[in-house]
Amino acid sequence: MSKTIGVGLIGLGTVGGGVVRLLQDSPCSMRRRTGASLALKRVAVRDLGKSREVPVDASLLTGDAMALVRDPQVQMVVELTGAPQAYEWISEALRAGKDVVTANKALLAERGDELFRLALEKGADLMFEASVAGGIPIIRMLRNGLVANRVESLYGILNGTTNYILTQMTRGAGGYAETLRHAQEKGYAEPDPTLDVSGQDAAQKLAILCRIAFQTTGTAKQIFCEGIERIEPQDIEYARELGYTIKLLAIAKRRGEEVEARVHPVMVPSEALMANIHDVFNAIEVVGSSVGTQVFYGRGAGQMPTASAVVADMVELAERRNSGAGPAIGDMIIGDEATAIADMRQVELRYYLRALACDRPGVLAQIARVLAEERISIASVIQKERDLQGGTVPLIIVTHEAPEAGMQRALAALGRLDILEGQARVIRIEAL
Ligand SMILES: NC(=O)c1ccc[n+]([C@@H]2O[C@H](COP(=O)([O-])OP(=O)(O)OC[C@H]3O[C@@H](n4cnc5c(N)ncnc54)[C@H](OP(=O)(O)O)[C@@H]3O)[C@@H](O)[C@H]2O)c1
Repeated sequence: MSKTIGVGLIGLGTVGGGVVRLLQDSPCSMRRRTGASLALKRVAVRDLGKSREVPVDASLLTGDAMALVRDPQVQMVVELTGAPQAYEWISEALRAGKDVVTANKALLAERGDELFRLALEKGADLMFEASVAGGIPIIRMLRNGLVANRVESLYGILNGTTNYILTQMTRGAGGYAETLRHAQEKGYAEPDPTLDVSGQDAAQKLAILCRIAFQTTGTAKQIFCEGIERIEPQDIEYARELGYTIKLLAIAKRRGEEVEARVHPVMVPSEALMANIHDVFNAIEVVGSSVGTQVFYGRGAGQMPTASAVVADMVELAERRNSGAGPAIGDMIIGDEATAIADMRQVELRYYLRALACDRPGVLAQIARVLAEERISIASVIQKERDLQGGTVPLIIVTHEAPEAGMQRALAALGRLDILEGQARVIRIEAL
């Protein structure tokens, strides 16, 4: 007789509904794989009176998630709420030795260290495939498939909302505000899009990936983060003229003993693979010491892709429990060997700089002098036609590699000169 593992699901929204659907649709194939049945014992929601798209036996529903966690019929807790109480529920489950699956990137990026240690101490497992890049099994790839590799670098388009907005802007659909509005109408952006457009969502995901790929213990707050809010159609147009496409990338690269970890808009060569990941799709390019470059591509969010990742974790846990194998959380615990995240100010990059300069003799020389004082050398300059009304000239400068700190000082110095209208804009360039 096959063993039954009691599942407690917290959250029956977009992802939770998808998980219930998958459990209802394919119980046989899961049982074949695990030798055990996953049986939904309790489902916690916030509003018991809400009508549900996915039918769930009303007797399973509860408004008390902590009671679900403590229910002896529940051996596996699946947290799919993103609620502030998630830490309490997950830690309580782990303390009781119950396995946990979560999609909560914000929590793992912030308090993953504590939770992984607690799981190890209590002989429980904590799995989180859905927390990064939805349906793409990147966590499993890094932890298992690429385990024989030292990861050298990782580039990711980890946020579908920003990729959609930049794709639309690149296709000429309008400016940032207008394109964001479209994305909201289509359900690709939240009513409050801050977490996505500011790059913080991608930074949380990068913090999780960096822990696995580079053994960092830093939180998302230690990752340099700049959003797409200031990208203008002119930047996209000038990028195209220079042979680049603008993407919001999450980047991690070894640099000596440290690792660079940063999220910001990047100009990438238009023929590069990352430049051709469109709309809400996600992609991650990993360079491993043995495999070389590998690329993972797919849907980074949405009900069924994300639920697919959650159920994969549930099946793996059931398989482990049924075979008597212990938890496999050891690789998530990082001790004294933790890799430090490099200081962004010392990272060396090439830059695109756009300024609206007064149309006077000697202006270009003054800008060049400011850059030279920071030892930033110019690779090329494009001067556009003067704006007859404003008497200003758009100037586009591409630099050779220079430290971030020098570029920031140069920007501040340019701001103090009275030769520019508004602030100069900078976008970092990545060769890939
Ligand atoms: N949506 C995606 O594509 C996606 C992708 C990757 C990761 N994630 C992550 O997955 C998690 C869930 O996202 P979602 O999009 O499914 O959210 P959602 O549609 O807003 O659903 C949240 C669910 O949690 C329930 N809930 C909230 N607070 C609760 C509480 N205090 N007690 C019990 N239940 C509570 C809600 O109950 P009611 O239904 O009664 O309101 C709802 O069923 C989040 O951590 C998110 O970051 C989502």
